Amino acid sequence: MADRVVARGPGRVNLIGEHTDYNDGLAMPFAIDRGVTVTATAIDGHEVRARALDLGEEDAFALARPERAGGWRDFVRGAVAELQAAGHALRPSQLEIAGDLPRGSGLSSSAALEAALTLALLGLAGEAPPEDLRELARLCSRIENDWVGAETGLLDQLAALLAREGHVLEIDFRSLDVLPVPLSLGEWRLVTVESGATHTHAGSGYNERRAECRAAREALGIASLRDASEDGVAGLPDPLRRRARHVLTENARVEAMAEVLAAGDLEAAGALLDASHASLRDDYEASVPEVEATVRALKAAGAAGARMVGGGFGGSVLALLGPGIEAPAGALTVAPGPAARLL
Ligand code: GLA
Repeated sequence: MADRVVARGPGRVNLIGEHTDYNDGLAMPFAIDRGVTVTATAIDGHEVRARALDLGEEDAFALARPERAGGWRDFVRGAVAELQAAGHALRPSQLEIAGDLPRGSGLSSSAALEAALTLALLGLAGEAPPEDLRELARLCSRIENDWVGAETGLLDQLAALLAREGHVLEIDFRSLDVLPVPLSLGEWRLVTVESGATHTHAGSGYNERRAECRAAREALGIASLRDASEDGVAGLPDPLRRRARHVLTENARVEAMAEVLAAGDLEAAGALLDASHASLRDDYEASVPEVEATVRALKAAGAAGARMVGGGFGGSVLALLGPGIEAPAGALTVAPGPAARLL
C-alpha cells in the first residue's frame, strides 16, 4: 500500500442547465484543467492533519471522531466522516491542499476539493473508489450539504468525478444518466471571466431559490418541477411562477444545445447562452450588477453568447467567442479536461 498519494479534483464549467440539477432537470457541465490537488501522506498516531497551503492554515482532529469546525476544515472533516460512515477504513494522515482555482469564482472549487480529498483518502487506504462513481458523487454532495451547510445539488460533483476529456456531460438528474457529448469548437473558444463579486452557497440566495422551487412544486402538487406543465406554471403566484418558468425553459435549452452542438452550429449555441442568462437574470433573479457588467462587456467585445455560470449571486461569466474575437484581459480559456483522479 502506498504511503503517499496525490489526487487532483477539477473545477467545472456548466455550458448550460443552471439551477436545474435540484429540480430533476438537465444540465451540460464539463471539467476544466484548473482544480485542487490533495497530497496525502500516512502518519503515525490517530489523527488527520491538514494544511491549506493557499490559506496558510492548519487543522488536526481525531480520525475516529471528526467534528465540525467551520470554514474549509469542514470539507476535510466531512470527507473523513462520510467515507468512514460508508464503511471505508481510513489511515491517519497528513493532507496538503493546494489549488489553482479561484475560490468563489463559481467554478466549483468546493466539488474539486471534495473529489480530490475523497480520492486521496481512499487511495492512501488502499481502497478503490466505488465502481459507480455516482455513488462517490453523492457522498461528496453529503459533505457539502451536511457538513458545510450548502444545499447544493449533484451537478458539480458529477462533473468533477465523471468528466471526459473533449466532452461535455449531458446529465439527466432524474435518472442520473450521464451521456458524454463531444465538444468540437474548431476556431471558437470558451472563456470565463470573473465578475469580481465573490459567490458563496451557504447563506446566499442559493438556498432561498431552492426553497422557492420547493414551494412551487408543492403548490403544483407535483414531486419535481421536471413534471411541471407550462399552464400549471403560468397559474402560480409571482415569484414562484418566474422561478419555475426558468427551470422549464432552461431544461428545453439544454436539449436545444445538444442539437445545435451535434449540428456544429456555434452561433446558435451562443444564442442559447444569451437566452439562459436572460432567464437567470429576469426569472431566476440570480444575477448581480458585477455579473451584468461582465456580460455586457463580453457582448460588446463580440462574444456570440455570455452567461453567468454556476450558482450565481456573483462568480464568473462564461462566454463563447468566435474566430478572431479577442478575450478580455484576465479571461481564462476553458476546455473539457479529465475527471478527478490519482496522479
Ligand atoms: C451550484 C451548485 C449546483 C447547481 C448550480 C446551479 O454550482 O453546487 O448543484 O445547483 O449551482 O446550476
